[in-house]
Amino acid sequence: MTSPLLTLVLGGTGKTGRRVVRRMADRGHRVRIGSRNAGIPFDWNDAATWQPALAGVDAVYVSYQPDLAVPGAPEAIGAFAELAVHTGARRLVLLSGRGEPEAEACEKALAARGGEWTVLRASFFAQNFSEGDFLGPLLDGELALPVGDVEEPFVDADDIAEVAATVLAEGGHTGRTYDLTGPRLLTFAQAAHEIAAATGREIGYVTVPAEAYAAELAAHGVPTDVTDLLTYLFTEVLDGRNARLGDGVRQVLGRPARDFADHVAEAAASGVWNPGAAS
Ligand SMILES: NC(=O)c1ccc[n+]([C@@H]2O[C@H](COP(=O)([O-])OP(=O)(O)OC[C@H]3O[C@@H](n4cnc5c(N)ncnc54)[C@H](OP(=O)(O)O)[C@@H]3O)[C@@H](O)[C@H]2O)c1
Repeated sequence: MTSPLLTLVLGGTGKTGRRVVRRMADRGHRVRIGSRNAGIPFDWNDAATWQPALAGVDAVYVSYQPDLAVPGAPEAIGAFAELAVHTGARRLVLLSGRGEPEAEACEKALAARGGEWTVLRASFFAQNFSEGDFLGPLLDGELALPVGDVEEPFVDADDIAEVAATVLAEGGHTGRTYDLTGPRLLTFAQAAHEIAAATGREIGYVTVPAEAYAAELAAHGVPTDVTDLLTYLFTEVLDGRNARLGDGVRQVLGRPARDFADHVAEAAASGVWNPGAAS
């Protein structure tokens, strides 16, 4: 390492961000969390918060909220990247998604601002099952999604963070786009089955029509814009276009990506899928 960097980690308490924070700190760099509840608050919906969060920053992990597919995301990311490069935070690593035209518009908006940009195109996270939207249904014993037998190579958020920290800390990845996936294709039903096997619990998987899925979310108070977004992601993006493995983890880290089974074993041992044991 040369001199320590000050890195702004957007979403720094989230699934990927908090793992990036830990790795950058482990490497001896200074880290600033960028989120609405951080010491210096950062809010994607309030551009006035961006400049204070960027003060003195050398590099930024850019994870957008709530999702790259929402209207206005490319404009916000472009405006943020322009400000970042202008204020001296030249190294920008964008967390993106695979096979999404909306995400690609965000990547282009970031790249157009110059700087040392790198894009990480991630598949569905394994942590969606243990820390994200699928956790509640899994605790209830049934995961119901509008996805049939489409295969997805779930990526481990620890791998995303390891790649992000390597790129942020070491540089040398300017203009590169990395396809980050796990090493194995699985259907959502197979994923639920592996979790059931690891926990010794009965967990079912059912494919439901998109309308029924949206209605179920709405019944649980999920706002319409989020319902629309999730339905879009499951019905449009999970059509088979991403049913292939990427090699980004090996390209950057020189080792294979972590298997979904490794995450399942670790999460099962932590007790996160034990009903009643949730913290
Ligand atoms: N999940 C997947 O499978 C997947 C796959 C590919 C790409 N992606 C992309 O990954 C990104 C999400 O990353 P993640 O899952 O690591 O994040 P996450 O766990 O959803 O992150 C939550 C973090 O974002 C902060 N946050 C929430 N709203 C915010 C706002 N308006 N302004 C600033 N910060 C805000 C939260 O802190 P506060 O509450 O303190 O603000 C928290 O630190 C999205 O852009 C998505 O499109 C996801």
